[in-house]
Formats: sequence, C-alpha cells, structure tokens
Amino acid sequence: MPTWNSDQYLKFANERTQPAVDLAARVALAAPQRAIDLGCGPGNSTLVVANRWPEARLTGLDNSAAMLAAARNTLPAAQWLEGDITTWAAHTAAASFEVIFANASLHWVPEHAVVLPQLLAAVAPGGALALQMPANFDAPPHRLMRELGTSESWRSFFTPPPREWHVHPSEFYYDTLAPHAARVELWTTDYIHVLAGIDGIVEWYRGTGLRPWLDALPDEATRHRFLANYKELLAPHFPIRADGRILFPFRRLFVIAYR
Ligand SMILES: C[S@@+](CC[C@H](N)C(=O)[O-])C[C@H]1O[C@@H](n2cnc3c(N)ncnc32)[C@H](O)[C@@H]1O
Repeated sequence: MPTWNSDQYLKFANERTQPAVDLAARVALAAPQRAIDLGCGPGNSTLVVANRWPEARLTGLDNSAAMLAAARNTLPAAQWLEGDITTWAAHTAAASFEVIFANASLHWVPEHAVVLPQLLAAVAPGGALALQMPANFDAPPHRLMRELGTSESWRSFFTPPPREWHVHPSEFYYDTLAPHAARVELWTTDYIHVLAGIDGIVEWYRGTGLRPWLDALPDEATRHRFLANYKELLAPHFPIRADGRILFPFRRLFVIAYR
C-alpha cells in the first residue's frame, strides 16, 4: 500500500476539496441522520459533508493511519475508522447510512462491479451513494508517468508496474448501479487549475498518483532523477502563460445513486 502524506496532499487543498463541495451540493437530501466518508483522507471531504448536513452523525474511514491522524484534528467530533473500503463494503449491514460519500478515493479500490452494489446496499432507502473519481487517466500527466515508468531506463525499478487505476466509463457506473437504484445521476466536470509552472504538476502528483512510483525507487537521488525526467516530458504539454503559470485541466466523473 503506498504511503500517504497529508501535508503534501493538502498543498492543493482548495483544488482537491472543490469537487467534494460540488458533489455534496448536488445530493438532494435535506437531513440525513448517518453519513460516512469513505477514503476520507485528511478530513477535508469529511468537513464538507459536516457543513452540508450539520445534524448528521458522521464517520470517516481510511486505510492510512497518517491521513486519519490529520482527519481527527480537522473534525474531532466525528467517528474515525481505520479500514479498507472493500472490506467495509462487504461487511456493512444493509441500509446503515443515509449518505455514503466517496470523494477521490474509489479509483484506488478494485472490483467496482462488486463493491459498488455492496455500497449501494448499505444505503438506507431514500438515501444516496455519492462518488467522485478522477477521469483523466489518458491525460498527459498520467500517460507520461506510465510511459516513463515502463521505459527502457526505468522499467527495472517497477516490476510489476506499481499501480492499477480503477475508473470506468460513465456507462459502466450507470449499468452497475441503475438495477439497484431509484435514480442515478452522472456528470463530468473539467476543472482547469492554475498552477505555478511544471513544478506545480509534479507537486500535485507527489501527493497522489506519483507516490506508488516514487515509493518503489530505492533512494532520494533516484527519485530526484525520475522526477527530472518526468518534468522534461511534461513541459511541451503545458505552455507557460505570460504570468509564468500553467493551466492544468483535470476531468472528474461524478455519480449519485439514490435508493
Ligand atoms: C486522494 S485521497 C482523497 C481524500 C479526500 N476524500 C478528498 O476528497 O480529498 C484518497 C484517500 O483514499 C484512501 N484510500 C485509498 N484506498 C483505500 C482503501 N482501499 N480503503 C480505504 N481508504 C483508501 C487513501 O488513504 C487516501 O486518504
């Protein structure tokens, strides 16, 4: 399991939290009693859920002790569980929560065809399963990360390649959830983040997608070399604007299934 660092992740707290705000705003429930945030990270998305439904009894679950420690500081009143989403989905009783929320976490979890119906079953009638996942697997930052990691110079460090990405097309989520749902809503949003040069993209992904690659490298000097190569590959795709910044487009897929 890759290591998570809440400080690195939260360098882009606003950009990473806005999708959680947008997702929670679209969930048409007035006063759910029980809500859980799966893959709650440092508690930024849990705080969004708390602000949206202040009366709800709130739980956050994550399998990173480091992230949970930060989450506890963010929202001491919530219940915090260290655990795996797949295991939780398989063992949670039916109709346990009015809101099951997962912002930017399920793309780390395999077997969506099995896990998502289990998650929906854990939603109480009238409640909602609300998900957001990055949908930019083929965008240059991800494609180039994979191309670099599997290139002649680097592939010996990564056998097998360190990470699988678990996001499917929107049709998959409709087909998987609609048979068990009263209604399914899906949409994508293209966020365009303004970052401080190519270094901004590297910093962004050091908090998420680059971690499994960097974790597999033996020392700091090798990691440094990997990142330098990565930056060279990124540069032609992100022209520098007149003010020295770059535009970093980021598509995200949103799904809400109501029971
Ligand atoms: C990109 S962060 C998202 C954090 C937060 N939800 C947000 O909206 O910014 C992904 C989180 O999912 C957690 N995670 C990844 N796989 C998991 C799993 N199988 N079970 C539980 N948590 C998991 C990671 O530890 C990390 O904290």
